[in-house]
Amino acid sequence: MKHFARSNGSLSPVTEIQSKAVPHERKPAQPRHIAIIMDGNGRWASKHGLPRAIGHQRGVEAVRRTVRAAIELSVPYLTLYSFSSENWSRPAAEIDDLMGLMKRFIKRDLAELHHAGVKILVIGERTKVDPELMALIDEAVELTRNNTAITLVVAFNYGARAEIAKAARALAVEVAAGRLSPDDINVDRLGAALDTAGIPDPDLLIRTSGEMRISNFLLWQCAYTEFVFLDAFWPEFGRELLEVAIARYCERDRRYGGLTRQSAV
Ligand code: IPE
Ligand code: IPE
Ligand code: MG
Repeated sequence: MKHFARSNGSLSPVTEIQSKAVPHERKPAQPRHIAIIMDGNGRWASKHGLPRAIGHQRGVEAVRRTVRAAIELSVPYLTLYSFSSENWSRPAAEIDDLMGLMKRFIKRDLAELHHAGVKILVIGERTKVDPELMALIDEAVELTRNNTAITLVVAFNYGARAEIAKAARALAVEVAAGRLSPDDINVDRLGAALDTAGIPDPDLLIRTSGEMRISNFLLWQCAYTEFVFLDAFWPEFGRELLEVAIARYCERDRRYGGLTRQSAV
């Protein structure tokens, strides 16, 4: 399937052109790309005296609400961190729950997502993922490839450091083969070798659950992203909190290392 560069075991979309942040942009308009660290399923469950697995199930419902809301609010790109490369260190039973939920989500929701015009892309590694699930993921990407209502990027089995190392390796191979000069390796070239090639950098990163860390998510791409941390647990998330986060974002002054209009005069 031509959407993915499979030769290096990647799930990367490889088409389109890397976009750049607009320098000296003022009060930002609506975010073009929102990325979310969907955290707190387990704590939501324990707060309600329920097993963690139920928290993850409720988390899937929050995913449905969020995708719907993002379409209603005309957000062009939504990236959801669904499973990190470090999440393999969780107990086997929890990993099984999470993989099972991912499979069921695709089986149950793919037709509806397609009908709603959602284009699905997946970033992360193919290694260690059950082939049946991998086939479902490939099917989802292939079926929705021409949709235009929203691009939903699912970060699955994803870790940003590994993504950057893989991009560096791919460029090193080009150099070793004599097809690329080390002098030609620049920010654009490295960005284009990442899983997110062709996807604009996130304008807004939301993390639920009160944690204030990035947990190996989009380290390169978030160089000038605005962060909004919410105390709510992920199963509590939906349109209302998405709008709260967007409103906070719209109050920010994105300077990209430059000066604000006020301080420039
Ligand atoms: C997010 O919720 C889901 C995944 C990381 C897959 P958690 O499972 O991390 O929930 P907490 O952080 O333990 O509450
Ligand atoms: C980040 O949450 C990963 C996902 C939401 C998929 P974690 O719960 O794994 O992050 P840490 O361990 O608290 O940093
Ligand atoms: Mg967590």
